[in-house]
Amino acid sequence: MTVTQVNAKAKRLQQLNKLNRPSYIIDEVQLIENLTRCQSLQSRYPIQVLLAMKAFSSQTYMPLIKQYLSGVSVSSYNEARLAHESGAHPIHCYSPAFEQGQFQALLEMVSSITFNSVGQWAHYKAQVNQYPAHISCGLRINPEHEEVKNPLYNPCGPRSRFGVTINQVQKSDFKDLDGILCHNLCGHSSHELERTIMSIETKFGEYLSQLKWINLGGGHMLTRDDYNRTHLGQLADYLSDKYELDVYIEPGEAIVYEAGYLVCQVLDIIDNGGLIAIVNVSASAHMPDVIEMPYRPHILGSKSAGKTPYTYQIGGNTCLSGDIMGEYAFESPLQIGQPLIFTDMAQYTMVKNTTFNGVSLPDIAQLDSHGNISPIQAFGYESFVSRLP
Ligand SMILES: Cc1ncc(COP(=O)(O)O)c(C=O)c1O
Repeated sequence: MTVTQVNAKAKRLQQLNKLNRPSYIIDEVQLIENLTRCQSLQSRYPIQVLLAMKAFSSQTYMPLIKQYLSGVSVSSYNEARLAHESGAHPIHCYSPAFEQGQFQALLEMVSSITFNSVGQWAHYKAQVNQYPAHISCGLRINPEHEEVKNPLYNPCGPRSRFGVTINQVQKSDFKDLDGILCHNLCGHSSHELERTIMSIETKFGEYLSQLKWINLGGGHMLTRDDYNRTHLGQLADYLSDKYELDVYIEPGEAIVYEAGYLVCQVLDIIDNGGLIAIVNVSASAHMPDVIEMPYRPHILGSKSAGKTPYTYQIGGNTCLSGDIMGEYAFESPLQIGQPLIFTDMAQYTMVKNTTFNGVSLPDIAQLDSHGNISPIQAFGYESFVSRLP
């Protein structure tokens, strides 16, 4: 970013301090920047970028997103319906296991279906073939090549339930299939992808020339400044030239990377062997990956513990003892009522929210290029009670 862009961004972000309710803020400028990077990659190389809606699902932003990307990837009836009703096209669908009661409705919305097992493919094959429009079918594969250390996010670990290993398939299983999906990355660079492609070739190489497409899943951080998009494009070139495959990727995180904030306010400050600030959002309910991953989300204007004079543990407003965002140092003491702004909060947050402990869902709003904030969703008591018996 140029100095002018940095200053303009800082000025726009100033507006967030005026909010007095917990709110997710979608940064339209950053979202468009991410989408532009994907579009430019697609224009130079034989690769199609889909939005994995499990990371970010939005009726409001679908009209924008579909101008830049080559479609969406969904993993449930609800995501497919949201995509369909928002005009997204084409819709690629994969699920660990499809439900019979929803399958016919899915067929009416999607253009491709990837099955997780040979059993699911066998179960639904006749139904797909009877459907009047052509639906391209694929199988998820597990090349047993591990890049992710944390078992919670490792789709290729021992006893994984995702995709078929080479020992679970026979040649005849690939008859009538158009493609394969392999998802084994999480926040990775193009080098991990290159190793993954090599492992796919080693295990499933004999099938590649008879297929029409390969979907290399998500986990590619292609919108980050340090990501080598040229290398990614060259890998797509390689697969396209050697096997004549259409190459897809379906990132979620990268599409909305750094394009969202969670603004909250300090409710109380206590001292128990060190300062603790309780805020009106929750790691558990509103940013669960902080606990699951785990990771420490960044707060604007803060440093790591001890780097500046005032260090606080920031904790959420639920009764879960581990509902803690992390330790943060500030230049001056925090004040009750003061806003704090967590960054990179568009991915895997709103889609995973809960109202555990009856905590309110943060509102959702947009920050535009002029620094104007416009409301998108406001949540009250109804959003809590409507999902309970
Ligand atoms: C099959 C599949 N595709 C795509 C994604 C999106 O991954 P990411 O958001 O890390 O890019 C996931 C994430 O779990 C996934 O399971």
